[in-house]
Amino acid sequence: MALGIGSRAAMAGTIAALGLSAATWSGDALLGGVIALISGAFAVAILTIGRESPGPAAPAATEGPALPALDALMDAVDEPLLVVRDRRVTIANHAARALLGAHIEGSDVRLAIRHPAAAERLGDGPAVDQVSVRTELDGIGELGRPWEMIVTGLPDGSRLVRLADQSAARAAEQMRVDFVANASHELRTPLATLLGFLETLQDEAAGGDAATRARFITIMFGEATRMRDLLDDLMSLSRIEADRFAAPRDSVDLLSLIEEVKHGLKAMARDRALVVENGAGAVTVAGDRRQLAQMLNNLLVNALKYGRAGTPVQIALEPAGAELVRIAIVDEGEGIAAEHIPRLTERFYRVDPGRSRSVGGTGLGLAIVKHIILRHRGRLEIQSRPGEGTIVNVTLPRAGALSS
Ligand SMILES: Nc1ncnc2c1ncn2[C@@H]1O[C@H](COP(=O)(O)OP(=O)(O)OP(=O)(O)O)[C@@H](O)[C@H]1O
Ligand SMILES: [Mg+2]
Repeated sequence: MALGIGSRAAMAGTIAALGLSAATWSGDALLGGVIALISGAFAVAILTIGRESPGPAAPAATEGPALPALDALMDAVDEPLLVVRDRRVTIANHAARALLGAHIEGSDVRLAIRHPAAAERLGDGPAVDQVSVRTELDGIGELGRPWEMIVTGLPDGSRLVRLADQSAARAAEQMRVDFVANASHELRTPLATLLGFLETLQDEAAGGDAATRARFITIMFGEATRMRDLLDDLMSLSRIEADRFAAPRDSVDLLSLIEEVKHGLKAMARDRALVVENGAGAVTVAGDRRQLAQMLNNLLVNALKYGRAGTPVQIALEPAGAELVRIAIVDEGEGIAAEHIPRLTERFYRVDPGRSRSVGGTGLGLAIVKHIILRHRGRLEIQSRPGEGTIVNVTLPRAGALSS
């Protein structure tokens, strides 16, 4: 029986409305969008079929904006998407064909997604009622890549299957786990040393002699300082991350800041020269003064710690276009092999953990630098030649450039 234009419009309207409500219920922006698009496309298809039928009652077609075809829409989504009806894959987008095979359209969905949990979820039984059901699927496609399968019933009784790649979420979770493990380990080592010495000092015979006691106390002081420094670094890292989206507003004169940080490092530098070369004139940046001082301090401490004894450290200030200024910190030191450079800003990453620890390093300095630069919308670049030295370039927007 042919449907009149009124009934078709009513049906199309119902499908579009169902689609919109399913999209709203799904609570997931991407999935919601896809359901809305698919329902919209079904609704448009019904109206279009009506328009093409040559029945006498068909009114003159009104020109509306051209809509993309359903498969073009689905192909534009870069997550694998399938529409399944009665266990058959009726549509598979480009990403789904790339993941599951070029010929999955028309095949049984249990053969297309070869996974027991998927087979169970998509096997017999009616389509779920416009609610999304999420199932974890590991081991489809590339080995070890984690996926989540989200199945949503569509108004026409078929099901939309979306495969969401969980690699980034798993990597973030792993980073959190590693971070806690690393932080605990870094705190546990000096704590164990402290407890060992305290135990010895408790024993009159072992800790009796004044010279030995003084030596022990010096070591204990060093270990306690290490723990305090580590906790300070951890706290400042979390503060910087918490402030990440608050644009810094102080007007900071870079030259006076560099002089201030240089002054604070006098004792550490001893005979090493910290040479400032200014090719940028007076430079003001919109920044957080304390954070910028911490960034310069961490970079200069690295240049002093890992630079060769007796060699100077250069701090060069130069313009980088009209809106940016570059600070280059150059040392003549042991340098860093190329394979380590991309990982230097990871928390607790050290090229040679034993050596860094012996000079008091915890591996958080460059992670802090990276986050401070991110907050200031700047850029960090590290260039190094093993045996010759390292150049750390920090590019920052000049005052005024940030607010635009
Ligand atoms: N200028 C440099 N020359 C050579 N190696 C460097 C230089 N700067 C950093 N590194 C290497 O990068 C690693 C990470 O540096 P980072 O500043 O994050 O940690 P750290 O100096 O070990 O400890 P922290 O800064 O927390 O006290 C260092 O352990 C060191 O191996
Ligand atoms: Mg450091």
